[in-house]
Amino acid sequence: MYLKHTQQMKAENLYEEIKKEKIIFFDKIMALKGSSLENFAKDYTFWDDMVFFLKTGDKKWAEENIDTGLATFNAHAAWVYTSESSVVYYVNNIDADNLGYMPVDSTLCESLFKEKRFCHFFHIIPQGLMEIRGATIHPTSDVERKTEPRGFFFVGRLWTNAYLADISKLTNGSVVLSDRQEGNFPQRRDIANGLIYFSKPLEGLDGKPEQYLNVKIKSAIINEINSASNRQLISAIVLELLIFFILTPYLLAVVSRPLNLISKSLKSGDVSFIKDLQKNTTEFGTIAQLIIKFHEQNAELAEAHDRLELKVRERTAELSETNKMLEHEIVEHKKAESEKEQLWSRLMQSEKLAALGQMGSIIAHEIRNPLTVIYGFAQCLLQDIGKDNTKYEAVRSIVEESNRSIIFLRQILSFSRKGNTEKEMVNINDVIGNTLTLIKAKTKVSFVTLLTELSVGLPSVFANATQLQQIIINLCNNAIDAMPKGGVLCVRSVAIEKNGAAFVEIQVQDNGSGIPDEIRAKIFEPFFTTKEDGHGTGLGLALVNEIVQKHRGFIDIKTEHGKGTLFKILLPVNEPESILQ
Ligand SMILES: Nc1ncnc2c1ncn2[C@@H]1O[C@H](COP(=O)(O)OP(=O)(O)OP(=O)(O)O)[C@@H](O)[C@H]1O
Ligand SMILES: [Mg+2]
Repeated sequence: MYLKHTQQMKAENLYEEIKKEKIIFFDKIMALKGSSLENFAKDYTFWDDMVFFLKTGDKKWAEENIDTGLATFNAHAAWVYTSESSVVYYVNNIDADNLGYMPVDSTLCESLFKEKRFCHFFHIIPQGLMEIRGATIHPTSDVERKTEPRGFFFVGRLWTNAYLADISKLTNGSVVLSDRQEGNFPQRRDIANGLIYFSKPLEGLDGKPEQYLNVKIKSAIINEINSASNRQLISAIVLELLIFFILTPYLLAVVSRPLNLISKSLKSGDVSFIKDLQKNTTEFGTIAQLIIKFHEQNAELAEAHDRLELKVRERTAELSETNKMLEHEIVEHKKAESEKEQLWSRLMQSEKLAALGQMGSIIAHEIRNPLTVIYGFAQCLLQDIGKDNTKYEAVRSIVEESNRSIIFLRQILSFSRKGNTEKEMVNINDVIGNTLTLIKAKTKVSFVTLLTELSVGLPSVFANATQLQQIIINLCNNAIDAMPKGGVLCVRSVAIEKNGAAFVEIQVQDNGSGIPDEIRAKIFEPFFTTKEDGHGTGLGLALVNEIVQKHRGFIDIKTEHGKGTLFKILLPVNEPESILQ
């Protein structure tokens, strides 16, 4: 295809070159053919005899010179005009009556030769297309025709079929007259047959084409080139086919087969395909060797990788075992730490309580007894003096403060009073009833409503009634303190069962402030209090806890910030210890 295209381009360029040359050649032929008419017009107008004839109009002279000139110069008509454009003489050799005057308006003569001395144009007359040439008439001495024209001389040549046939013969083509130009189109190109087409306009007096001369010339060279290029194309194709048929088997054997084997081996990863190929001395042999080497190295790498992976797995297993052990140790350590902390806090608590106990026995003798005497005398004094007495307030203060101190000492003494811990079978409802008579006064002053919900038929518990009373008093005091603006204090007794064991439960509930989360863990510590200085010892709940533990019971607390607190004291229902023992 490419070859054909190139050949075609070459042929087209050559065609255009040859066409240009042919046109130049054609123009030259036409100039040559037309030169006789041109000479006729020029030669007869640069002549004293002609100037003279303009004056005489000597017909004989005209017949002898002009009429004979027609045949000599291959012309068909001639006209002689004066400088005023009137006809002096006319003649034609085609027996035409219509050629007495110039076929174009003779008045044009003056304007026609205003700036030039010659004219050349075509005009259609009934007999056909006539070529007309004209010239101004001057004396022989005026070589350059500079003087005023004495007259005008026109000659005409009819372009007959014979004339056209003559041109065709001379140009080795075919020449046809037509109103349309047919040869000057690029598509009018016939390379295959070696035919060249072009058109020549034949201009009229006004410069516009009167008719066209359509030329068709056969070029032997184009024909020759054409067939030569065809031969070249065929040779190229034959050569290509030869190369294809000779080279293909060679390429198959030397390139395609080894490539195929290499591709198969690369795709499948199987080097057996290229085992033989590696002996090959070509580049394919080298490639085969490289692929085999690559596979060997790959296998080694894979093996090393497997070994490494196995080692990693073993080490990971070891590490995870160690990790587990470490985790276990950490858990154990944490457990031991927490146990240690608990033990420490219990030890601290019992240390504190033991210190309290020791202090208690000293206090009992050295402070409480004299304080009780002070309190007694102060009370007598207060009864004796009236309220109007100026010392009344001072004595009342002594009574109150000594009383508060006695209560405080009672609390402390409760930890050491070992002798007063005898237990007996106690009816809880009776203990609650007795205790609440002591609390009632405080509830009234504090605007607290006291409610009791005591279950009927409760089993008795083996306990120390005074200590149980201390529990209830402390819990009720705390509940009242938690409701500074008043509220409801409810004391209940219920029989319950827990983990298969029977308990009697004392409940003390308030709708006061509740116990904040951050102090929950500390409320049973001795001396922990949130109350203002002089208002709380922080021993109330510590004592409650001590007593409950001594009775092998439990404490359960439910509290909610701003809504209140419920203390549950669970006391086991069991036989007297002496009987158990
Ligand atoms: N029902 C309750 N509502 C809200 N807070 C309470 C209640 N009971 C105890 N608390 C909190 O627990 C703390 C410790 O109580 P605890 O009875 O041991 O000491 P105290 O009441 O402060 O002093 P004391 O009992 O010697 O007068 C209290 O200061 C209080 O903050
Ligand atoms: Mg208290």
